[in-house]
Amino acid sequence: MDELKIEDEKTPLINLIDIYKIYQMGSTEVRANNGINLKIYHGEFVAIVGKSGSGKSTIMNIIGALDVPTKGQYILKGQDVSTMKDDELAEVRNRTIGFIFQQYNLLAKQTLLENVELPLLYAGIGKSKRKQMALEALERVGIQDKWNNMPNQLSGGQQQRGSIARALAGNPSLILADEPTGALDSKTSREVLDFLRKLNDEGNTVVLITHDRAVAEEAKRVVKIHDGQIVFDGPVDEYRRSQT
Ligand SMILES: Nc1ncnc2c1ncn2[C@@H]1O[C@H](COP(=O)(O)OP(=O)(O)OP(=O)(O)O)[C@@H](O)[C@H]1O
Ligand SMILES: [Mg+2]
Repeated sequence: MDELKIEDEKTPLINLIDIYKIYQMGSTEVRANNGINLKIYHGEFVAIVGKSGSGKSTIMNIIGALDVPTKGQYILKGQDVSTMKDDELAEVRNRTIGFIFQQYNLLAKQTLLENVELPLLYAGIGKSKRKQMALEALERVGIQDKWNNMPNQLSGGQQQRGSIARALAGNPSLILADEPTGALDSKTSREVLDFLRKLNDEGNTVVLITHDRAVAEEAKRVVKIHDGQIVFDGPVDEYRRSQT
């Protein structure tokens, strides 16, 4: 094992230090995140669970470098992200994170292949390399034969697999999934969850955001948030026991 690898295992991939996100609504303040401390290491599969309004999307936007906290520090891969400007955040996102959303967000006027190539294009990867990487990602999710289809010529499950391929294509350090099964029937949800688990088995770090306890139980570690604060953080078995 080389030194870098050892260093990687000790340094958290994600380190959220006393994170607050406060919105001023007239004379009242809304503390969407109210002092969150969380470390996530390479290779983990973590579910962040909580009911509607608990602050999940707020923390996911911070973890995903889509937004910065009002107060507190966010260290992603050893880099302080909490004070970055928009263009720096975009660069970190492109290099580090693969996003999977509830609405697949595939562009309707682009083929499946072009959709999967898009983040690689933003990352500045050349044309032929891009195509090769995108086809490989489609192969990993088992829909390479559909590469030339438009999104509306794919089933819901295939579209979500396409969005997973898009998230995977650049070999990101982190796969961040926000309610990835929210728009799917139970059979397709099962496929997507199995797939996230497989990605984790292959060594990928997966963070899954959900309001659904059963979905959260697919992860290895569960972090529960309530009113912007962490109220549980532990292995899935312990979470399961705490819920009954
Ligand atoms: N831009 C904003 N301005 C003011 N308040 C906001 C803003 N964004 C979120 N909030 C508030 O912060 C709290 C947390 O919102 P958040 O979207 O993180 O919840 P959530 O857990 O993702 O909920 P859901 O499961 O419904 O998506 C809520 O009370 C919400 O009303
Ligand atoms: Mg939300």
